[in-house]
Amino acid sequence: MHLLVTGGAGFIGSNFVSQTLRSKVHPDIPSDVRITVLDALTYASGRAFIEADIQAFPDRCRLIQGSILDRDLVFALVNECDAVVHFAAESHNDNSLHDPTLFVETNVNGTLTLLEAAREYDKRFHHVSTDEVYGDLPLNDRGKFNEASPYRPSSPYSASKAGADHLVNAWVRSFGLNATISNCSNNYGPRQHVEKLVPRTITERLQGRRPRVYGTGANVRDWIHVDDHNSGIWDVLLRGRSGQTYLIGANGEASNLEVVRTINELMGYPADDFEFVKDRPGHDLRYAIDASKIEGELGWRPRRTNFREGLAETIEWYKENRAWWESEKTATEARLSKWGY
Ligand code: NAD
Ligand code: DAU
Repeated sequence: MHLLVTGGAGFIGSNFVSQTLRSKVHPDIPSDVRITVLDALTYASGRAFIEADIQAFPDRCRLIQGSILDRDLVFALVNECDAVVHFAAESHNDNSLHDPTLFVETNVNGTLTLLEAAREYDKRFHHVSTDEVYGDLPLNDRGKFNEASPYRPSSPYSASKAGADHLVNAWVRSFGLNATISNCSNNYGPRQHVEKLVPRTITERLQGRRPRVYGTGANVRDWIHVDDHNSGIWDVLLRGRSGQTYLIGANGEASNLEVVRTINELMGYPADDFEFVKDRPGHDLRYAIDASKIEGELGWRPRRTNFREGLAETIEWYKENRAWWESEKTATEARLSKWGY
């Protein structure tokens, strides 16, 4: 099996590539799977992770630096592969509020280019999407998103991901493309860019500053370890039905205050040693996933469900990988502080 993995140098994509080559996260990964990573190597990527994989598996992994918007390149690479796993995206909500055009170009037009290539060469296509396409849920409520939830995206990022989802479904219905979608909740784990809540909080502490909490900190996210997300993607890739959407989540609801307090405690600081900063415009209140479809139909189960333990491991990873994140950290903090965060 030859996979074209777009965005394979990013947080989730690079974990997917490394774990797949080592036959981890899922028991049914074909042992001879080969991977071509197509990645534009933007600020969010980790080229070093893929280079290490290429060194370890020179016959099974290669990196093509290029954009999913480059039609000729995309058509040539899709033609060579058996299946496309599409992670590539602009992924950060705050950035989308400041440069929405880039998000529409990458997330909508980039997906369109890939879909056209997959249609031309009749390839299996899996689209990695987000629970944010469903908007948000009320705080202090027990409701959850499921596959029948209406699309109601709030930010330019989530609207662009919703647009991409609609394109995938239209290509299935109108052109018979063999495609699936997974919509996952908030991932955490190694290799995540320092602009996101968990790594930002950890690296603020490691650089001697206090974490920042947007607004009241009451907003709830449904946390899942990146390995559990990737095992779900493998289930969908191997056994998902074309035209179907599968929600992936691990019952990991926690408020932002709870997350920041836990990281503080794990790193030896008083739980309430953080600063409140201004709120994100349009800030979604709560996400929560009902994963019973992927569990019931495909037998997927999350395994890394101890959030405290996963956070402790993630903290260790950031302590051991300062060289990777420190230069990005300076640029990120300059950007976020300019916006009032
Ligand atoms: P990320 O920002 O860490 O990585 C995105 C990768 O895409 C980067 O390596 C970047 O260089 C690449 N990329 C960006 N523009 C490109 C282009 N034009 N051509 C080729 N490559 C390009 O993102 P992530 O957190 O790993 O998210 C991966 C996917 O999963 C995204 O589609 C995102 O919407 C989705 N998702 C993320 C989460 C989460 O919690 N992080 C949850 C659910 C779904
Ligand atoms: O739900 C899935 C989505 O999760 C993915 O589709 C996105 O790609 C991913 O970035 C993530 O989106 P969020 O906006 O939820 O993630 P972020 O890490 O930016 O923020 C998580 C919460 O923490 C959110 O309520 C904002 C808040 N926050 C964030 C930062 C960076 C803070 O309170 N302080 C911070 O410093």
